Amino acid sequence: MEKKKVILDVDTGIDDALAIAYATKSKCLDLLGITTCFGNVHVEDATRNTQFVLQLLKEETPVYQGSERPLSGKEPYLEVAKKIHGNDGLGNHLQDKGYAQHHQEEKHAIDFVIDTVKTYPHEITLIFVGPLTNLARIIEKDPEIIHLVKEVVIMGGAVTVPGNVRSYAEANIFSDPNAAKKVLQSSLPITLVGLDVTMNTLLPRNSVDQWLKNENEVSQFFAGITNYYIDAYENFQPGIGGCGLHDPLAVGVVIDPSFVETKSMYIEVETTGDMIGKTSVATEGTSKINVCLKVEEERFLQHFMKTLEF
Ligand code: BDR
Ligand code: CA
Repeated sequence: MEKKKVILDVDTGIDDALAIAYATKSKCLDLLGITTCFGNVHVEDATRNTQFVLQLLKEETPVYQGSERPLSGKEPYLEVAKKIHGNDGLGNHLQDKGYAQHHQEEKHAIDFVIDTVKTYPHEITLIFVGPLTNLARIIEKDPEIIHLVKEVVIMGGAVTVPGNVRSYAEANIFSDPNAAKKVLQSSLPITLVGLDVTMNTLLPRNSVDQWLKNENEVSQFFAGITNYYIDAYENFQPGIGGCGLHDPLAVGVVIDPSFVETKSMYIEVETTGDMIGKTSVATEGTSKINVCLKVEEERFLQHFMKTLEF
């Protein structure tokens, strides 16, 4: 089977780190590069965290740094993110590690995506699991890309369920609503993996306990950061019993689209007023996107755990 060529855009973050591990270990994906964006942390820290995770996994995927702020305004979400992902974005687990700087590519994330899509027309799947700033800037800079990508899978939004960073908004969309609006109404072939499905794929504490039994550095690291993430979820919602595998599910949908059921819809993003970042169904628009509304959570979780093999 030919591997799917993918580029992953992250704001590494704990579930981003899990998504990176899942993507690099999947035998179905050919990960051509990782691009970074502000979001859970400043963009420099997202790049550092991504490099750290790749180094730990002994992967040499190139990392391209991208946007440091939204299309307008400043990063809106950092203080909340620290409570969920830790001060360093990785559950404060980087502090005591002898972190060696990895090679960072010179090219900007935006140019890397444009050049790669043009090198492999109709073959590249873009997976976005942070704010959509890089993608909005890509289509601003070179609108031809809209017709040259194979598909775009986005972790973002809360169409039929409440938000997380606000009661009405999901964090990735809230972080740059103008970018989200531009992207979701761009005619790109989009699948939206929102809280509608990702809050059903909770990773329970006992899965992490399995990783803890393995004494290798990789298992211990991922168990440590994931337990931090689960603690944060428990803090916000006592008794929840796990953490949302938001970003890994977006990767999972690329590996096996049958994990989810989708519906084609117009999606509106609020960019002004007191509901900024809200995603809702509209009756008209420029283009419809595929919104995930159901997930086979058990089958996905089993696949995720088996692929990671920590
Ligand atoms: C999204 O927000 C971030 O905190 C996570 O990494 C994920 O991409 C979930 O709303
Ligand atoms: Ca993320």
